Amino acid sequence: MEVQYEPLSRETLSGAIDAIRSLPEFFYERDFEKAESSYRSYVEGKTPDDPFYVAREGQEVLGVVGAAKRQDADGVYFLASFAVKKGLRGRGIGRRLLEHLEHELKERRARLLFAETTTASYCDPTRAFYEAVDYVMVAEVPDFWAPGDPLALYQKRL
Ligand SMILES: CC(C)(COP(=O)(O)OP(=O)(O)OC[C@H]1O[C@@H](n2cnc3c(N)ncnc32)[C@H](O)[C@@H]1OP(=O)(O)O)[C@@H](O)C(=O)NCCC(=O)NCCS
Repeated sequence: MEVQYEPLSRETLSGAIDAIRSLPEFFYERDFEKAESSYRSYVEGKTPDDPFYVAREGQEVLGVVGAAKRQDADGVYFLASFAVKKGLRGRGIGRRLLEHLEHELKERRARLLFAETTTASYCDPTRAFYEAVDYVMVAEVPDFWAPGDPLALYQKRL
């Protein structure tokens, strides 16, 4: 079956939640709660400025990514709640999901995209991913997420 890339919808909401929850080693519990509420808010039409895309094969959601618009800046978005389901990482799904989202954001006149991760070792693969898809680390903030867990801020100019 072919993988489809499409906006998150009511039909794919619970699959998107399952996809991000399949990766407890990469996220804090509060990240799951924030992801669920922002996915839900988008499918209910409450936050159209903050779009989400899913990768879907049949009824199964394989991955999800979104962006949150900075309302106080011109064309600036932060990637949000990005996950490819456990066991399916490293097959090109994340790259293609991001391409679809970036295309959508370009149409919305986005200029700058940011991705927030960590320089802690549990996200070494995440940083390798962002570097492979042309994001550049522009800042590191010690003790940001928690003591000993720094923010790594990545940027891409569209
Ligand atoms: C980050 C994530 C979304 C990327 O999705 P993915 O489907 O695994 O990534 P892809 O297979 O599309 O990889 C694209 C490129 O990134 C690089 N890459 C991905 N994972 C890598 C790894 N573990 N080590 C080195 N490079 C890696 C590869 O160069 C790959 O290039 P290729 O397309 O030429 O093979 C996914 O791995 C994930 O869910 N990670 C855990 C959660 C997470 O970190 N989310 C982001 C929070 S900020």
